[in-house]
Amino acid sequence: MLLRVYVMLIIRTISELRAYRGELTGSIGFVPTMGALHHGHIALMTKARSITEQLIVSIFVNPTQFAPGEDFDHYPRTWESDIKECEQAGVDMVFAPTVEEIYSPMLVPVQINVPLLAEDLEGAYRPQFFGGVCRVVAKLLNIVQPHYACFGRKDYQQLLVVDAMVRDLAMPVSIIPVDTVREEDGLAMSSRNRYLDAQHRQHALGLIKALRQANRMVQQDGETDPAIVQSAMHSTLVAHHFQVDYAVVRHPRTLKPVDTIDPDLTGGVVALLAGRLGDVRLIDNMILCSDE
Ligand code: PAJ
Repeated sequence: MLLRVYVMLIIRTISELRAYRGELTGSIGFVPTMGALHHGHIALMTKARSITEQLIVSIFVNPTQFAPGEDFDHYPRTWESDIKECEQAGVDMVFAPTVEEIYSPMLVPVQINVPLLAEDLEGAYRPQFFGGVCRVVAKLLNIVQPHYACFGRKDYQQLLVVDAMVRDLAMPVSIIPVDTVREEDGLAMSSRNRYLDAQHRQHALGLIKALRQANRMVQQDGETDPAIVQSAMHSTLVAHHFQVDYAVVRHPRTLKPVDTIDPDLTGGVVALLAGRLGDVRLIDNMILCSDE
């Protein structure tokens, strides 16, 4: 009887990763994460696992996407349970570099901008966020050189920005979107949910309530005026004690405002929400005209 022994490698340096990568044959899937893994991350790994022969996951809390005063220092770091989750998901290799390994002081920093997609919404509230995301994702993709990389629809704008970067820079990788994984009561899973106290956890349901309400207004009531849908979502968030950053309806590919919600528009329109409960900032989104 042949036993296949499964060993998950943990690699910390770019040079070790390159050596290991050089030995690999077959298709390679990649899931970049900042750790504090939950079922949303696992769904990305399961998707990648199902289409590729080798699965590489990175765990790296990327300082360049956090502004001073944001939660970089307090971002949850749950290394031991992350490693168990990766083993259970059948990951072949975890790449977990140090900050110095990725951002050596010898480097002259490069900026990648995707202005048409990245300046609005999250970009308006977190001006350095997408610059940091693009720099680290480009770098990780160049190091790992996967054939496929999975990104969650939970971070809708990030998915569009990364996809645009990869296409325009002709990076040899396909970006695979994965649907948002939610708790039973509808809250989108997020590493930041663990910051919520019991009361804020209840209030956080305002996000999914606002999105489902918007979906009903468009699907069942035939509402076509984006201003009316936006104002309803805003009120629902306020009723759940959110300080609202934005509650908008946008074109699903360009993220530009739409004059009217055309039910025949392929892919519908996307409703995007961001708001704060105390110190915790949450985002969520839904394609309207979907069955969610
Ligand atoms: P992180 O927040 O750890 O998320 C890693 C990936 O998991 C992202 O593609 C995100 O969209 C996806 N994800 C998070 N919650 C999800 C959910 N509930 N359902 C489905 N997918 C979900 O996003 C980042 O890290 C970073 O910006 C990163 C891309 C790693 C660059 O540093």
